[in-house]
Amino acid sequence: MPGLAAMLRALDETALTRLQDAPFEHSPLAAWLPVEELAALVDLPAISADSVEPPSAWSAHIGGRKWQQIVAFAARMPVAADRPLIEWCAGKGHLARTLSRLHGCHVTALEWQASLCAAGRCLAERQGADVALVGQDVMAGDATRWLGGNGHLAALHACGDLHVRLIELAADHAGAVTLAPCCYHRTAAERYRPLSRYARRLTAERGLALARDDLTLAVQETVTAPRGDRRRRARANAWRLGFDALQREVRGIDAYLPVPSLAHGRLPETFAGFCRWAAEQKGLALPARLDAARFEREGQRRLAEVERLELVRHLFRRPLEVWLALDRRMRLEEAGFAVELGTFCARELTPRNLLLRAEAEPRGKSVGRRGFAPRPGQR
Ligand SMILES: C[S@@+](CC[C@H](N)C(=O)[O-])C[C@H]1O[C@@H](n2cnc3c(N)ncnc32)[C@H](O)[C@@H]1O
Repeated sequence: MPGLAAMLRALDETALTRLQDAPFEHSPLAAWLPVEELAALVDLPAISADSVEPPSAWSAHIGGRKWQQIVAFAARMPVAADRPLIEWCAGKGHLARTLSRLHGCHVTALEWQASLCAAGRCLAERQGADVALVGQDVMAGDATRWLGGNGHLAALHACGDLHVRLIELAADHAGAVTLAPCCYHRTAAERYRPLSRYARRLTAERGLALARDDLTLAVQETVTAPRGDRRRRARANAWRLGFDALQREVRGIDAYLPVPSLAHGRLPETFAGFCRWAAEQKGLALPARLDAARFEREGQRRLAEVERLELVRHLFRRPLEVWLALDRRMRLEEAGFAVELGTFCARELTPRNLLLRAEAEPRGKSVGRRGFAPRPGQR
């Protein structure tokens, strides 16, 4: 695509940040790529909500943003008196407590970490919420014991395999699902296997193959990250690129050398310190007189270039996420659910703001609960 790379390299910082945050708005990439079509693909409706205003005291022990997500999620969750409520991967059961107090009902909250269960039980008891926090590995075979034929499964930000497991079990055992998926790449399988027959057929026909690493693109959005975090991440990336330039020169080999990742907060204080650490990891001897400043500048230059060229990837971030959510929707529809897919909150509150709201159709209405009910025009 002649001219595209040159245009991207010439973008100033303001344009770069604007396009990182809003890839579809007034994008100069539209001269080369189908920006409008991609924007239309991700234009999902906001899921309708009941008016829910829990007292602010209920937010005690919950982070501010998480609390707002819970309120937005709960407002979109239809709770029926005759339907057992189960929260999936509940953490301390913040959502479960809120639902229990809002609707005066019992909620079973499944979570595998014993410490979170214990903390959640204390909170539920203190707040008089009718919540049973149960230590349960949802991937284990016995997870089905919590599901009746009519239960309502709810999960706010259940990662990859955990929410896939929810969907698979719900297809056979649940009456309703309210799910905000996240971290699609957290999966044991290295290659993505679509959940729905429809997507499996489509990907086979079109030769579309997604590796686990490809799926990380769907969640690479830093819109809610505090500015300080963004700055620290940018510095770490520039240092990695600077070290890369250095190792190529020292080894005399023009090839990438993977350096292990460092836990948050463990990055050395200076670029020279980072190079010493990285060299040690790779068993590389650095020259005694190292011009660290030169390589630090080179890292910054390369980062500026990478960030600009990556704007092309950013255009496909949300479309991929929506595609994965559509696959989940189709899986539930094929199992006989009526499903809505839309957003449950602004993306500034969480970029993982997609919600699947599904209700098992009365038997006989669909071609078959647990059977394939194609939507018109989708054969
Ligand atoms: C991303 S957190 C979401 C927690 C909560 N829903 C929220 O929105 O704050 C995912 C939770 O799943 C739990 N989890 C991870 N693997 C699990 C498993 N196999 N069985 C049950 N819970 C699991 C984690 O301990 C964690 O609390």
